[in-house]
Amino acid sequence: MSGLSCLIRRCIVIATSTILLMVFLLQIDYLKLIESLPHQTPAVDPRCDGQQHPLSSQALLYPGCKNNDRLGSIPSTPALFNYTLPLRTRGRDIVDARGQRVKLASINWYGASDVGYIPAGLDAQHRDDIAKLIRSLGFNSVRLPYADEIVRDNPWIPAEKLSANRDLVRPDGRHSEEGEGALARDVFTAVVQSLTDAGIMVIVNNHITQATWCCGANPCDAVWNNDWFGGSLFCRVSQTEQQWISNWETTMHPLISNPGVIGVDLRNEPRGLWGTLSWDDWAGAAETAAHRLLTLNPDWLIVVEGISSANDLSGVRTRPIELPPGYADRVVYSAHVYSWSGWGALRPYSGRTYSDFATSMRKNWAFIIEENLAPVWIGEFGTADHPNSGDRNYWNNLISFLGDIDVSWGYWALNPRKPAGWEWEGYGLVGDGWDEDSVRRDYRLNDLYHLGLRPELAS
Ligand SMILES: *[C@@H]1O[C@H](CO)[C@@H](O)[C@H](O)[C@H]1NC(C)=O
Repeated sequence: MSGLSCLIRRCIVIATSTILLMVFLLQIDYLKLIESLPHQTPAVDPRCDGQQHPLSSQALLYPGCKNNDRLGSIPSTPALFNYTLPLRTRGRDIVDARGQRVKLASINWYGASDVGYIPAGLDAQHRDDIAKLIRSLGFNSVRLPYADEIVRDNPWIPAEKLSANRDLVRPDGRHSEEGEGALARDVFTAVVQSLTDAGIMVIVNNHITQATWCCGANPCDAVWNNDWFGGSLFCRVSQTEQQWISNWETTMHPLISNPGVIGVDLRNEPRGLWGTLSWDDWAGAAETAAHRLLTLNPDWLIVVEGISSANDLSGVRTRPIELPPGYADRVVYSAHVYSWSGWGALRPYSGRTYSDFATSMRKNWAFIIEENLAPVWIGEFGTADHPNSGDRNYWNNLISFLGDIDVSWGYWALNPRKPAGWEWEGYGLVGDGWDEDSVRRDYRLNDLYHLGLRPELAS
């Protein structure tokens, strides 16, 4: 290579890294700015109609209503635990092998996507007991995220992180100096087994490339591949589309013969900077991965999230996901709905009226349900145990909308702590005990009844 082209190359690398750094810094400021904006909340919620929840013995805490009564009618719920695998899709619904509708009432259990490399809580409770707790709360399925980094490195997890799961601990690491512990991927597989043994369906999710909290502006983690020019220079974990797919195969291989593993959620919140990721690019990559995974097990549902951080599935109208002949009834679309409405969004849901909010839902994903095109699973949504007025406005609107449209959903999250820094997880449903006594029985769990959660069906 000549000296001149070498110089130009170096300039491009420096320019690119400067831009990425600026974007990274801007992102942090941007999120802080959004959080600090005053939230406007409609003064009176028209749904505060004074009716009591017929299925809960506890006082209902509907945050939008002064007297804490709530939403009138409760939608009928198809059997949450009475199903025959495998699952398929039929129009807007997921159905079981008998053709009966199955509604996913899921919870996210994170950790294997983050700095600890394994699903969290295994130092507090045995995984079988966490699985039973999830079921006793009424959830029939778990979304279990992983990071590509744990597939590539399969880190050795020290025994103290597994102190309530001693049966997973082995005497030696791969190197004698590592001491007792277990390999991260073995722990992941064991957790899946405990969940399905408890009759909980599992959807595995490729959450992020580098094991850390998701999802900021770091371009290394924004999409399934990061081998673009300079990717291998800037990213701790760099991978091509092929490596992303082969990581999927490695993760799913031990789970092939477990029928309780019902699906693969191909990539969490694919996103570009302010809309620069096209749906068509993502749809093509998703189809390539789906073809390969259906070769491993043709019964897995293929879950495809929208672009703009899983907010936007509008591309499905003109460019639906297409699987090989005979596999068309495997596609489930997935949207995530949070108060900030996705990375870089300029109009967060925290400050919208119900009709404004519902219009966005219809445009972004609900048309897929209303036009009976395919199922949509709201694979992430959630809010804080101590919500501000913007959180409450978003939550009330969302619960109302999801109740009316009656779709599958997955609450974020079970966990009491974010792994980095042991920060309190305000969105979590359990406390540090990871047990029945630590469950936070606040308005959120109550409102999930409105979406069909039925603990009494779980026993
Ligand atoms: C499960 O569903 C089937 C088919 O609808 C029904 O015949 C059966 O009674 C149900 N079982 C239980 C325990 O509800």
